[in-house]
Amino acid sequence: MAWQEPTRLVITCGRGCVPALSGELCALGHRPQEVSPTAVEVTGNLHEAMRLNLWLRTANRVLFEVAGFAVESPDELYAATRDLPWEEWLRGDVPFHVHGVAQHETIRDSRFALLRCKDAIADRFVEQTGARPDSSASPVGAASIALYWKDGVAQLFLDTSGVPLSHRGYRQQPWVAPLRETLAASILLETGWGQNPDEAFVGPMCGSGTLAIEAAWICQNRAPGLYREDFAFLLWNGVEADEWRQMRAAAQRQCRTAPRAWLAASDIAPEAVACARANAERAGVAHLIRFQVGDFRDAALPQPPALILMNPGYGERVGELAELYPLYEAIGTFFKTKCQELRAAVFTGSPALGRKIGLHPARRTTMWNGDIECRLLEFEIYAGTRDPRLLRKHRGESSAPQ
Ligand SMILES: C[S@@+](CC[C@H](N)C(=O)[O-])C[C@H]1O[C@@H](n2cnc3c(N)ncnc32)[C@H](O)[C@@H]1O
Repeated sequence: MAWQEPTRLVITCGRGCVPALSGELCALGHRPQEVSPTAVEVTGNLHEAMRLNLWLRTANRVLFEVAGFAVESPDELYAATRDLPWEEWLRGDVPFHVHGVAQHETIRDSRFALLRCKDAIADRFVEQTGARPDSSASPVGAASIALYWKDGVAQLFLDTSGVPLSHRGYRQQPWVAPLRETLAASILLETGWGQNPDEAFVGPMCGSGTLAIEAAWICQNRAPGLYREDFAFLLWNGVEADEWRQMRAAAQRQCRTAPRAWLAASDIAPEAVACARANAERAGVAHLIRFQVGDFRDAALPQPPALILMNPGYGERVGELAELYPLYEAIGTFFKTKCQELRAAVFTGSPALGRKIGLHPARRTTMWNGDIECRLLEFEIYAGTRDPRLLRKHRGESSAPQ
């Protein structure tokens, strides 16, 4: 494989995160095409795949296409997979891992298709080199291969990420119901966070601190991949780590050590604040965030412009619905009385609880937290006369009529 040849790169993300991911790709100079509710595609070579692994905040995986074929049975899948030159792409001294999804009338369980795929790769390798490579049940430390077989078409990819990009590595102490790091980044980018370098961030229900940490990384212009070492492309045959090291060093130079934004994170649970602080220390941003234990109503609020972003429990995993009504009503009162001229947003999985806030959202975005359909509700809080330019101004957008 000529790693420098442009190929099809498919980038996966959580459901509802395609707009945020597409925005990131456009900012990196690509023209993404949506291929499914959880994936977009661009064209690029290995260098570009490395850059996407380093910079994308909202992506789960960057997949490098090696083949696509019509397949109507597990035996056909085996034969077509065995025909591919795996010995050129994989190293004999590195285990390989196969993951993915297969939906076809001839199989009842995806795992059977993945097993046939794995056997085909190993058999091809033995035939060509005389040695059988180890396979691994985990992507950690392995060359990762992804299979997507649907509607009679199988696609095979080298998965350049391996361990999904949502595993940034800094969150070793989760508190109750933590958001995935990639979902937290998508929520922030949806609000327009980072467009105005003077805007402050307040996370008064911080839990394990994911939103505050991702907010800090965004305003630092810190590439999220800088924290990780384990990218699967580094284990491919013939890939030189030098190019990657240079790319990382350049990204390190682009990271702002002292961003202008004021950031705060608090939670009513002291254990949550301790987790958030420890996670922020690992992420290298604890010195940028003011941590506080306390009720959200007592959170220190900065002068505008500021974004107040909360992810309260919503009955699925934390507390029950009716018990949470007073909390959401109190959030509405807090916004109305204390957050005037600020931007306020709530990420919740319950429409009923969202309505208890008692304010009409200026913007409502659907995003999925695992299999829970959630809403990001953004509010404009006015201090008296309504100023429709406020939201746009604080998002860093032009207030001129469009
Ligand atoms: C769903 S969790 C937030 C998870 C967080 N987004 C993360 O990624 O880890 C909700 C948090 O709200 C906090 N909380 C609940 N009631 C609160 C209140 N009245 N004031 C401040 N925090 C509160 C809980 O302690 C919990 O940590």
